[in-house]
Amino acid sequence: NGMITIDPGYKNTGSCESAITFLDGEKGILRYRGYSIEELAEKADFLEVAYLLIFGELPNKVELEKFHADIKEESQVDEEMKKILDGFPKSAHPMGVLSSLTSALIAFNPTTVDVSSEKDMYHAIVRILAKFPVLVAWTLRKKKGLPLDYGDDTLGYVENIHKMMFKKPNQMYCKDDLVIDALDKLLILHADHEQNCSTSTVRIVGSSHAGLFASLSAGISALWGPLHGGANQAVLEMLEAIEKDGGDTKKYMAKAKDKSDPFRLMGFGHRVYKNFDPRAKIIKKAADDVLANLGIDDPILAIAKGLEKEALEDQYFVDRKLYPNVDFYSGIIYRALGIPTEMFTVMFALGRLPGWIAQWREMRLRGEPIGRPRQVYIGANLRPFVEVSKR
Ligand code: CMC
Repeated sequence: NGMITIDPGYKNTGSCESAITFLDGEKGILRYRGYSIEELAEKADFLEVAYLLIFGELPNKVELEKFHADIKEESQVDEEMKKILDGFPKSAHPMGVLSSLTSALIAFNPTTVDVSSEKDMYHAIVRILAKFPVLVAWTLRKKKGLPLDYGDDTLGYVENIHKMMFKKPNQMYCKDDLVIDALDKLLILHADHEQNCSTSTVRIVGSSHAGLFASLSAGISALWGPLHGGANQAVLEMLEAIEKDGGDTKKYMAKAKDKSDPFRLMGFGHRVYKNFDPRAKIIKKAADDVLANLGIDDPILAIAKGLEKEALEDQYFVDRKLYPNVDFYSGIIYRALGIPTEMFTVMFALGRLPGWIAQWREMRLRGEPIGRPRQVYIGANLRPFVEVSKR
């Protein structure tokens, strides 16, 4: 068909109309439902932002309390799920575990699949917002050899997540406002980013009317890759490697520019931002604040800053408009909060969950058709079959 235009990576192809997130890559603007990311990161909490993304407006106090109460009501995960988790080796990558557990959850929540009304959708949404943090916490706790526990309904949404992840059986849990604020901010900054790889995945899987959890499980898999959410793990591993190598940033800059070397400067570059990533600005400052407030002197932060400075002045990076992205500094904060490197992308998934949900809900409510891109065939012409003995 001569009418088909090929656009590898969909660089110039819009897949939908959306009222959720506004992004101007040239100007470095990001807004959720019209609110600037800077203001939301400063003033809102993650649950409010989740509500805003999913339902379109900031909740009033009553709406927010009801939303939270509905979530708390669903915060158990079937005990049988523990057996599934048990089957994984401790060495399993948390993103694979999480995607599998999210899929497995469907079997225990079959009413979340066939959603024909907004009420059904709400029910599925509240369930996953309640249960996903438990799966995240269990994934971490299994890695650490800690008992699998449930949340504490007296706490805020993010505080509860933190407690579920880190509470030791023989210790009191002490809330640290600084830590919770930092976590809240990180989750908000990751909450949506319009039609990125994982979000497009969620929408396209959901467009076949597969259920929300199946769509999310696919989104988690898409996020895992190092060119997408997996970059936060890759950044930290890169910074650690540079540190081990005596802090020789120049060597890694040269590698990143060498076209015969597959190495890329992880945490740099973005498909849409060609000026700066507004999230990276906020995260860089947050990394400074968190480390200073927690009294942590992390040599990796100095390496990251050195690398950033060199790249911003380097012609290769300037010409290609490569700037630090959201993943460049986030890992430094996660590390300061005691989150293992392999869990970084899981934290991204936790933050992105409301965005994925909002996009899935919008797609279903708009009655969008099944996603089905076309292709241009470039294979062999018709040829006769040859028996195996004659090949
Ligand atoms: N290091 C070195 N060179 C780079 C980098 C990098 N990080 N990123 C892009 N380039 C070069 C690339 O080689 C190409 O050069 P040339 O024109 O000479 O062939 C040019 O810049 C354009 O790159 P592209 O790969 O065509 O751009 P893209 O829009 O397809 O890819 C990207 C965007 C984010 C995948 C890419 O910049 C990248 O791989 N960055 C490193 C991984 C990363 O940090 N990912 C996180 C993205 S932000 C959060 C998220 O999505 O989860």
